[in-house]
Amino acid sequence: MLRSPGRDAGGAVPLSGARLRMIAQAVAASPAAWQHLVRIDPARRWHTRLRGTAEYDIWLESWLPGQGSGWHDHGGSAAVVVVARGELEERVPVLGGVVTKIRHVPEGGTRILRRRQVHELVNVSLASAVSVHVYVPPLAATRGYELGARGLRRAGAGRGQQAAAARSFRLEAAAPRRYRRGGRPLTAG
Ligand SMILES: [Fe+2]
Repeated sequence: MLRSPGRDAGGAVPLSGARLRMIAQAVAASPAAWQHLVRIDPARRWHTRLRGTAEYDIWLESWLPGQGSGWHDHGGSAAVVVVARGELEERVPVLGGVVTKIRHVPEGGTRILRRRQVHELVNVSLASAVSVHVYVPPLAATRGYELGARGLRRAGAGRGQQAAAARSFRLEAAAPRRYRRGGRPLTAG
């Protein structure tokens, strides 16, 4: 179950993974509500926030062939991704980036991501794609990573920061609720 932290005490019903998936799939299945908003930008991946609430927000993204998100996580937000049009490929680092797990996400396909889960989405097809992303709590920041010979590390980190980032990634994988790190400018993905 994906819970919005700190809301249970107030009596609000926490959002379950099933509920979030239902929201994302309902939006993806209603192109009349968003297709007029979609932009295709050859220069960079396009995205916009469709809706924001206190508990979650919904983003719409377009992907031209070859466009990708780069390695990133969503900070303290869990996520549900639904491919509304076309198809995407998702890459997930395993063992700190030593191994990469690759999934094909077809049209209508759904992915659920826990907080601080690192992944990368890429359009490896020959057609454009559109995806719907729901984040709970609302997305505050994404954090970029690089995959090198020594595995996964935070993008732009100095040598000392690299070690700390690698260490924190391992710890986050073991105990994902214990760590928080600084964010970077807000982008969805
Ligand atoms: Fe993402």
